[in-house]
Amino acid sequence: MRHVAATVYAVTTRHDGLAAGILATAVNSLSFDPPSLLVCINRNASLHDPLLAEKVFAVNVLGLSNRDVADHFMNPEAPDRFSTGNWQDIAGVPVLTDAQSSFVCRLVHHHEFGTHSVFIGELIAAHHRENATPLTYFDRNYIDISAAPERSGQD
Ligand SMILES: Cc1cc2nc3c(=O)[nH]c(=O)nc-3n(C[C@H](O)[C@H](O)[C@H](O)COP(=O)(O)O)c2cc1C
Repeated sequence: MRHVAATVYAVTTRHDGLAAGILATAVNSLSFDPPSLLVCINRNASLHDPLLAEKVFAVNVLGLSNRDVADHFMNPEAPDRFSTGNWQDIAGVPVLTDAQSSFVCRLVHHHEFGTHSVFIGELIAAHHRENATPLTYFDRNYIDISAAPERSGQD
């Protein structure tokens, strides 16, 4: 899957007062009615059990300008993942106010498969910032898709 370019998301929740969050690329829109999406989370990830218990989560679509948040989330030395970026609680869960987009969801279904759980969320709030370029992950690197050269016909 590393050869599949993917948008990078910060999936977050807050349970018992403690914020939890991980970077994820396994996120997809699901249905228009009701508005819903799905995220696939490793059952060993620190986010997994708090999300399952709280049943509310946020999917923050990271833009290029949120690269500092992505780096901070993946820094094992960082004691608090939420000390970088402007975070504000909406429906009790941390939302990155300057993300490209944020979707706050109520967990309506989850399904365990292998190492991961598929969480299905119904949208309860959404925020979008115009003119942001998504942070994209490809071949273990972050790339700027707006900087892609004109198509030459030799893909
Ligand atoms: C670009 C990128 C995409 C990732 N996508 C996912 C994902 O879709 N689902 C997932 O469970 N973990 C994903 N991870 C791994 C998690 O971000 C995290 O590192 C891992 O679950 C361990 O988290 P923890 O230290 O909070 O337990 C991804 C990591 C990176 C760098």
